[in-house]
Amino acid sequence: MTISIPCQRDLFDIPDDVAWLNCAQMSPTMRSVAEAGEAAIRRKEHPWTISPVDFFTDSEIARGLFADVVNANPDEVAIVPSASYGMAIAAQNLSVGPDNRILVLDEQFPSNLYVWSELAKRTGARIDVVPRPDDDDWTAAILNRIGPDIAIAALPNNHWTDGGLIDLEQIGAALRDVGAALAVDATQSLGAMPFDVRRVRPDFLVAACYKWMLGPYSLGFLYVDPKHHAGQPIEHNWITRAGSEDFSDLVNYRDDYQPGARRFDMGERANFGLMPQAIAALRQILDWGVDNIQATLSARTGEIAARARGMGIDSVSQGLRAGHFLGLRFEGGVPEGLGARLAAEKIHISVRGASVRVTPHLYTNDEDIERFFDALGRAP
Ligand SMILES: Cc1ncc(COP(=O)(O)O)c(C=O)c1O
Repeated sequence: MTISIPCQRDLFDIPDDVAWLNCAQMSPTMRSVAEAGEAAIRRKEHPWTISPVDFFTDSEIARGLFADVVNANPDEVAIVPSASYGMAIAAQNLSVGPDNRILVLDEQFPSNLYVWSELAKRTGARIDVVPRPDDDDWTAAILNRIGPDIAIAALPNNHWTDGGLIDLEQIGAALRDVGAALAVDATQSLGAMPFDVRRVRPDFLVAACYKWMLGPYSLGFLYVDPKHHAGQPIEHNWITRAGSEDFSDLVNYRDDYQPGARRFDMGERANFGLMPQAIAALRQILDWGVDNIQATLSARTGEIAARARGMGIDSVSQGLRAGHFLGLRFEGGVPEGLGARLAAEKIHISVRGASVRVTPHLYTNDEDIERFFDALGRAP
C-alpha cells in the first residue's frame, strides 16, 4: 500500500514566492544534499585525509543505492556522467546491421536519438520513428511496430514533453520475442516512478541524477544486463581495471577488469565532489519510497489536470500518463510568451514542443498551484 507524503518544502531552500513546477528541467537541491556537497568540496582542501580506499567507498555505496532504486544488483550498475554517455555504451555494445531498424519515438530527447542515428549511419541500419499516436497510447503504437527486423528499441519510460506513458514491461517482452535489445533512458522517471529491472529486463537503462533523482548535475547511473558484462567500455581508465585498489602496482598493466558493470565506469568516477550528494539524495528517495513519491505526485498532477480541463486545457489522460508528469495542451497551441509571463511572476514551467510541462515534486505546496492557476487565468 502506498502512502501520501506530506509537503516536504522545509527540506529545500525554496522561497515562498517561487513556484518551481519544473522538476523535469532540474530539481532543486535539498538542503541535506547541498550540505553533503559543501563538505565534499571542502574535503579536497585536505587531500591528506583522502586515502586510496576512499576512491572506492562512496562509489560502491552510490552504486548500491541506485541498484536498490531499480531492483538490481550493485554489480550490474556503472557510474556515468550523463544519459548520453550511458547510451553511447549501449550503442557500442549492441549489434545492428543494414537490414535492421532501430526504434525511437517521435520527438524523443536528443541524448537518446543522436547516438542511434550515428550508429545507423555507420551500419546502414534504419531509424524507425514511431509517430505520436492520436489516442496517446504509445505502448500500443510501439507494439504494433515491433517486427523481426527490429534490432534495438531505444525508449524512455515516459515521453519527456507530456508524460505519455510507455509500458516497458510489455514492450520488453515483445522485443525479446523477436530477439531485439531494449535501451532505456529513464532520466525523466527514475526516482519518481517505480522501475524493476527484473520485470522489464532492459539491456541497458540509464538515468541522469539531476532531475527526479534529486541529485547533482554531471552524474548518472547505468544498469547493464549481465549478458553485456564482457562488453567494450567507451573509455579506458585505471580504476576500472582489476587490482586498481593497489596504487603502488598500477603500472603492472592488466587486461582484466573490476567485476560486473564496473568496467563501464567513467574516468574519475570516484567524483569526490558529487558522489556524496548523490548518496544523500538516493537515501532520501529510498526513505520516502519511490511508490509513495509516485502516488503523491500522481494526486498532485491529477488535481492540476482536472482544474486545467475545467478551463478547456487538455492533457494526456491519467492511465496513459506517468503520474509525476503533466503536459498541458492548449487549443490552438501554447500562447505566445506564456513561459516568460509566468516566470516574471516566479512561476516556473517549461514549454516543450506543443506542451506546457508542469512537473511538481514533494516541495510543491497548494499555494504554488493557486498562483499558477491565477496567472494562467489572467493569461491572454
Ligand atoms: C529524457 C531525457 N534524457 C536525458 C536528458 C539529459 O541528457 P544528458 O544527460 O545526456 O545531458 C534529459 C534532459 O532534459 C531528458 O529530458
